Amino acid sequence: MKKKDEVRIMTEILRRATLYDVKGMDAVNRRNLPENYPILSWMGMVTTSKHSFVLVDNGEIVGYALCIVLPYLMNDGIKTHDPVGYVISLAVDEKYRGKGWGRKLLQSGVDSMKAVSVVDIKLNVRVGNTTAQKLYESIGFKKGKTIDSYYEDGEAAFEYGGIPP
Ligand SMILES: CC(C)(COP(=O)(O)OP(=O)(O)OC[C@H]1O[C@@H](n2cnc3c(N)ncnc32)[C@H](O)[C@@H]1OP(=O)(O)O)[C@@H](O)C(=O)NCCC(=O)NCCS
Repeated sequence: MKKKDEVRIMTEILRRATLYDVKGMDAVNRRNLPENYPILSWMGMVTTSKHSFVLVDNGEIVGYALCIVLPYLMNDGIKTHDPVGYVISLAVDEKYRGKGWGRKLLQSGVDSMKAVSVVDIKLNVRVGNTTAQKLYESIGFKKGKTIDSYYEDGEAAFEYGGIPP
């Protein structure tokens, strides 16, 4: 029950990511996912394609959506002449989960990429990660093909795509 004089102050802030957030984003990534990236890749992805968002609590990064827009389809390198968006990674520290932050981070990245007229937004997710799949489907992504042995440990991935409304 709420104590009589209790005051609840929300301290979380969701905002667009900058170069200065890269270290914190990498730390959240390493705490929550086995797929990690060299710090230089983070720097490139966050600064050249400004569609990533972070959740910050008290100055500390506690969640992120790493989103990029490329002029080609990443896996086969085919130039499309139309920009394609990618949700490269998404994570929220355990303490902050289940409060809608994952959805807000993802939606912010999606909206930002839609604003530059991407023709498709793609992402991959582990077949066993039903939590993330639920989130992607509820936002409007469509499940595509299964890619066998996509991850280093041998787990398959579902490909998702489309432009959520
Ligand atoms: C996936 C993740 C980012 C979701 O973050 P979150 O802040 O907890 O998500 P939200 O609170 O915004 O919930 C969004 C939706 O996700 C789904 N979801 C969240 N928690 C869930 C759970 N425990 N079980 C099943 N579905 C769940 C629901 O569809 C939920 O929508 P609803 O609340 O309307 O039912 C978070 O669980 C996470 O960081 N997981 C580890 C990293 C990861 O798997 N990243 C995705 C890689 S592809």
